[in-house]
Amino acid sequence: MRTNNVWLATSAEAPRGPLTMDLRADVCVIGAGVAGLTTAYLLAREGRSVIVLERGAVAGGETRNTTAHLSNAMDDRFVRLERVHGRGAARLVAESHGAAITRIEEIVADEDIACDFDRVDGYLFQPPGRPMSELSEELAVARRAGVFVEMIARAPIDGFDTGACLRFTGQAQLHPLKYMHGLALAFERLGGRIFCDTPVKEVHGGNEAEVITRDARVVRARAAVVATNSPINNRLAVHTRQVPYRTFVIGAIVPRGVVTKALFWDDGDPYHFVRLEATVDPTADTDVLLVGGEDARTGEVHDDEARYLRLEAWARARWPMIRDVPYRWSGQVYEPVDGLAFIGKNPLDADNVYIATGDSGQGMTHGTIAGILLTDLICGRKNPWTRLYDPARVRLSVARDYVRDSVGTAAHYAVWLTPGDVSGVDAIPPGEGAVLRQGLQKIAAYRDENGNVSMCSATCTHLGCVVGWNQSESFWECPCHGSRFDRFGKVVNGPATVDLAPLPAPPAAATKKLPDGTKKKKVLEPV
Ligand SMILES: Cc1cc2nc3c(=O)[nH]c(=O)nc-3n(C[C@H](O)[C@H](O)[C@H](O)COP(=O)(O)OP(=O)(O)OC[C@H]3O[C@@H](n4cnc5c(N)ncnc54)[C@H](O)[C@@H]3O)c2cc1C
Ligand code: FES
Repeated sequence: MRTNNVWLATSAEAPRGPLTMDLRADVCVIGAGVAGLTTAYLLAREGRSVIVLERGAVAGGETRNTTAHLSNAMDDRFVRLERVHGRGAARLVAESHGAAITRIEEIVADEDIACDFDRVDGYLFQPPGRPMSELSEELAVARRAGVFVEMIARAPIDGFDTGACLRFTGQAQLHPLKYMHGLALAFERLGGRIFCDTPVKEVHGGNEAEVITRDARVVRARAAVVATNSPINNRLAVHTRQVPYRTFVIGAIVPRGVVTKALFWDDGDPYHFVRLEATVDPTADTDVLLVGGEDARTGEVHDDEARYLRLEAWARARWPMIRDVPYRWSGQVYEPVDGLAFIGKNPLDADNVYIATGDSGQGMTHGTIAGILLTDLICGRKNPWTRLYDPARVRLSVARDYVRDSVGTAAHYAVWLTPGDVSGVDAIPPGEGAVLRQGLQKIAAYRDENGNVSMCSATCTHLGCVVGWNQSESFWECPCHGSRFDRFGKVVNGPATVDLAPLPAPPAAATKKLPDGTKKKKVLEPV
């Protein structure tokens, strides 16, 4: 089964056209995900003229893949955050994520956005075999950071005893696409302009920033905000300090009203995250239980089917009332080495260029924090979170993690020395892609359902790693810094901004079975 995203099945977006002329504005935001649109909306509320340039559609990036747990119970755990950043910083982390939830709630109310926003509790429990002392320690440090949390006997999951768990109050959830579409309309009501299908190629800072699109249109602005999930304008300063991971979600049908509406996390390795979605079909007598996890480093995942099945088995053991599982999808998150997003002035760049990246699986709140913080910076106001999220920060206590993850990235360059994924182009089944080796060249070859093969260079146009095929989402992904390209090599997400170099298709005889059905000619061979 291919992927089937529950949010896409239950929302609709107003069509928006591309940029067709040069323009000027106070601020140009690149990327219409939660980080970019929140920043654009909050700046427009301050009276700034703002233009948003988006490669595809509003919320067409990772924001449509989220499960939209809105939380200040940090994925990276307060124990680690306090150790790495210090006590004062841990308080600011709790404060900023709590403020992000409140800001979303206010926007939903102010703009009357029907997106099923709801305050719920969140429950963190241990997997079997893990010491309870870890939970006690997290409880103490989270409380010290100012979070409202308590230890209770078990999470409200009927028929499955989680053992003692932490209950975080004041968490929330919403329908991410309904929220984003409402936010886009609210921004436009304030005079903001959004141009879709407008990929940006270059961003130049200075007294007047210049944003240049792939079609050579130029937007000049006093400030540019690069909110492309992974910054397209930053060669190394940030990309070497965050690591791309794939994460998976299933949506299971459960009888209505049987599962408690709440957020659930376990602290396993890999860990799991769960929530209920009750609005998929208001006329049905069922809800959808979203269960996510099975994270693995991008480029090292070749067993998507097994991961979806493991998620389902884990969920059925805890919620045996699950019926069928019609939804499943995966997406990418960036894990910063010190657990916090990078939001602020782009390091090593000219003035007036800002970035937001490093979502760490909490990008809905990190993206909203970006909106609040960048609005303050651009408006010349002080913000207490500036140093915490400064993209230029270096925390020496994470040097070991940094070296480990850099070694992981370096290992991906060694792929140049290995053979291809398959023995030759004929070994690629319809609807799939594979990397082939031809002499010193690596080739990304895709065979469509009719048997036609298209080929492009497998060399990522960002910094030269070899891309790999993502079977369940049908695109090429780069293991080094997470760039993605569609089946034909067109860039879908940065940091790359240039498509994979196209190559001539192999002769027809190599792409299809010969008419007699006996022999297939191979033009590309393994080494
Ligand atoms: C499966 C999954 C579950 C998750 N669950 C949660 C959760 O429960 N809670 C939570 O807080 N977070 C969660 N996250 C993380 C969160 O969804 C993301 O971090 C967040 O949505 C990222 O928002 P963004 O605005 O930074 O990026 P995006 O939403 O990716 O937006 C970036 C936009 O920039 C555009 N763009 C890229 N390049 C260019 C270019 N060159 N020119 C113009 N536009 C460009 C893209 O098309 C895209 O629309 C989850 C993520 C995944 C994958
Ligand atoms: S994303 Fe950096 S090398 Fe591919």
